[in-house]
Amino acid sequence: MIDEIFDRAKKSITKSRNLKELDDLRVKFLGKNGEISNLLKNLNKLPKTKRSEAGKSLNQTKIIVDNLIKERKKYLEKLELENLLLKESIDISLPGRNFEIGGLHPITITLNRIQSIFEKNNFSVEIGPEIENDFYNFAALNIPSHHPARGMHDTFYFDSKTVLRTHTSPVQIRAMNNNTPPLSIISLGKVYRCDSDITHTPMFHQIEGLVVDKNINFSQLKGLLIDFLRSFFQNNNLAVRFRPSYFPFTEPSAEADIECVICNGDGCRVCKQTGWLEVLGCGIVHPNVLNVVDIDAKEYTGLAFGMGIERLAMLSYGVDDLRLFFENDIRFLRQFK
Ligand code: PHE
Repeated sequence: MIDEIFDRAKKSITKSRNLKELDDLRVKFLGKNGEISNLLKNLNKLPKTKRSEAGKSLNQTKIIVDNLIKERKKYLEKLELENLLLKESIDISLPGRNFEIGGLHPITITLNRIQSIFEKNNFSVEIGPEIENDFYNFAALNIPSHHPARGMHDTFYFDSKTVLRTHTSPVQIRAMNNNTPPLSIISLGKVYRCDSDITHTPMFHQIEGLVVDKNINFSQLKGLLIDFLRSFFQNNNLAVRFRPSYFPFTEPSAEADIECVICNGDGCRVCKQTGWLEVLGCGIVHPNVLNVVDIDAKEYTGLAFGMGIERLAMLSYGVDDLRLFFENDIRFLRQFK
């Protein structure tokens, strides 16, 4: 009987997997009502001659089982500690997880650069709405309805009088309404045209410039644009040329080309082998436009210019596909951080 209990106790103690299980076994065998304790209690029921022998072996068994439990307890405690340490350990050799810090979009960087060049030359910044009415976007700029020049703009219409502005030129009108000359302003922002292909996106950015003063002429306009372009492209010898052009709100009008910044004028794919890149439109503000804002065209002259920001950004960063600016591919954007 006692041998059988001892075998079971030993087996189950060796098999116990945690301290709770082990303590249950202690209660089962050695507790107040444990199997071994009960046998001890019942010793007096044995015949006297067997009592002392049985008592001795029972007590021995009790001590052995108690020792087995203590040993197992030490072992299980050690195991639990090791598991805990393993779970909570920190591998200090693991590489760190970096926070990636964002950067400005290349178009924003370009806008900021352009603005700061003009601010250094005492231009102030005017802001106009992107939802414009026909008057500011067209009529006041000497583009009456049915004027063929409206066809130059693929306009998004909300209704017959309300449009998404197709250029930043309406800010010229707002600036002249809000300020009395002399004035030098620029305006930067989004413009919209219903046009989408490899070289056109329905939304893009322009910068508009306007100077109104007495005794100024086309040579000042040329000078300030050449200075700007050389400063923007960080090349004091950058060649710039002006070609006659047409805009309804300027007369005379011109477009300016810079020597190709990719091939330095030798001719390449980007400049279509011409060595020149068109970068802006400009001209002397048409007297009809000055009349609209009650500025005396005999006394005052307006110099105006407009440029596409994406084009300037592409040329200054050597980006060859306009769409990259709007796809938000992080691998592309990351390069400008
Ligand atoms: N608004 C013209 C355009 O979008 C550019 C321009 C601005 C031309 C000012 C002359 C003067 O093409």
